[in-house]
Amino acid sequence: MEDFSMGARKCSTIATRPQSSHLGGPSSTRRANGADPTGSMLAIVNQKGGVGKTTTAVNVSSALASLGHRILLVDLDPQGNSTSGVGISRATIRMSMYDVLIGGDPMFHIIQPTAVERLDVAPSDVRLAGAEVELVPKIAREMKLRNAVRAVRGMYDVVIVDCPPSLGLLTVNALTAADGCLIPMQCEYYALEGISSLMTTIDLIRRHLNQDLKITGVLLTMVDARTRLSEQVAAEVKRHFGAQVLETVVPRSVRLAEAPSHGRPIFTYAPESRGAVAYLAVAREIAARVGLGSATGPGRPEAEPIVAASSEAGGDLVHG
Ligand SMILES: Nc1ncnc2c1ncn2[C@@H]1O[C@H](COP(=O)(O)OP(=O)(O)OP(=O)(O)O)[C@@H](O)[C@H]1O
Ligand SMILES: [Mg+2]
Repeated sequence: MEDFSMGARKCSTIATRPQSSHLGGPSSTRRANGADPTGSMLAIVNQKGGVGKTTTAVNVSSALASLGHRILLVDLDPQGNSTSGVGISRATIRMSMYDVLIGGDPMFHIIQPTAVERLDVAPSDVRLAGAEVELVPKIAREMKLRNAVRAVRGMYDVVIVDCPPSLGLLTVNALTAADGCLIPMQCEYYALEGISSLMTTIDLIRRHLNQDLKITGVLLTMVDARTRLSEQVAAEVKRHFGAQVLETVVPRSVRLAEAPSHGRPIFTYAPESRGAVAYLAVAREIAARVGLGSATGPGRPEAEPIVAASSEAGGDLVHG
């Protein structure tokens, strides 16, 4: 097996205790094909920094929750931006994914509810940076997340993992645990740079750790349709990835950039903004691709779109 190791170094473990969890009963979303839900797990991955992984993780999670699905957002990035992006103050976190991956704590000890109904988060904290190296000598180090998530997957319709900007062991754990990955790509000149290393990693994971791993989608982010460059990059990405590219593109939007500083997804910060419309459309495309049917189980309202109908906005999305 290829070696994903990065050299061993130890960091201290902070004493922690379980946080309140918000787990409900088993997930009741039906797959579009009528099959029982299997709890799809999606890794949001791109080792390039600042391409929109976290913005996508937070807003697609919130949109799917608003559509009636039960969502767990797993923050696997030591920066903790998904955790704060859904309103959980990093200062209050006592236990995190670090305790799960390194301490062997069960996921339900760390899962917290968010202000968004049906959206829970498994938070990160800075100690996760140490996990990259602390995992190295562990047995089955690439399987830690897959094994940990198994106990809670049935409680959620979709588990979304926000990955750090690297192809280290945290990302390898996400890709080993996931059914599919979503690759956000910023619409700029170097968008495809580094993509071959990501594809090589995905191939290695498929060969050795998770043969069923799919590319669920490639998402163009921060699109500025006033520029020819955005158009050219979008065409180039489509040539490379074909039908894997989602039809919806996410426009560059000040509102999307502002929302995290308020600890809110775009749907509560600026529900009528183009960013909100775009991410709702992205969530719908993803729901269709992973075969999620409507969410109508007990205590589950019919889907209540949080923003104006997204289909009308399709043409607008690429325009600034
Ligand atoms: N569509 C958008 N329009 C404007 N700003 C955006 C958009 N999407 C993301 N941003 C901003 O760009 C920056 C990077 O986005 P984000 O944090 O989602 O990227 P990332 O890939 O998760 O970064 P990292 O690799 O550091 O984890 C953030 O400041 C975010 O608010
Ligand atoms: Mg991020």
